[in-house]
Amino acid sequence: MERTDALALLFRHVQSGSLRSHCVATGAVMREAAAALGADPVRWETIGILHDIDFEEVEGDMQRHGIRGAGILAAAGMEEEICSVVKRHNHHLSGGYTAPLEVVLQAADAVSGLVIACALVKGGAVTGVTGKTVRKKFREKGFAAGCDRDRILPVDAVMPLPEFYGCAIRGITRQKEELGLH
Ligand SMILES: [Fe+2]
Repeated sequence: MERTDALALLFRHVQSGSLRSHCVATGAVMREAAAALGADPVRWETIGILHDIDFEEVEGDMQRHGIRGAGILAAAGMEEEICSVVKRHNHHLSGGYTAPLEVVLQAADAVSGLVIACALVKGGAVTGVTGKTVRKKFREKGFAAGCDRDRILPVDAVMPLPEFYGCAIRGITRQKEELGLH
């Protein structure tokens, strides 16, 4: 699926600007991580963009989140593996992630908010965010408190954490206009 098609599908199901941004940012991180790992960047970005497609429909119900998303994607003709990854990404219902795609999705889902928050304290300048910024803010538990740090750390088994932060910053910087950053 092309990026523009993934976004169009997402926007049909998600109206919130902040949730749309979260999905765009997560997709951007996924794309960079895939490129670094020799995986398929378009496929990984599509999964990142679509992972929370059901969030408004289930009204934040974590017992249904992901399951409904997989249903929406299956109805849209998405392949089984993508539906399954979206279903399993809800860490309240699933876990034990070992496939690089799933480990990185957990980390990308969490790190996207952290990097955007880092940019916002710099007046929206993601270009001013470095790996050092992210590492420092990671340690400040009160900063971007909604970012679950424990979902980021396991990515170190797939790629070194500093490299992952580099992917996250590059990805979000690439989409900075779409995210209202500079
Ligand atoms: Fe998410």
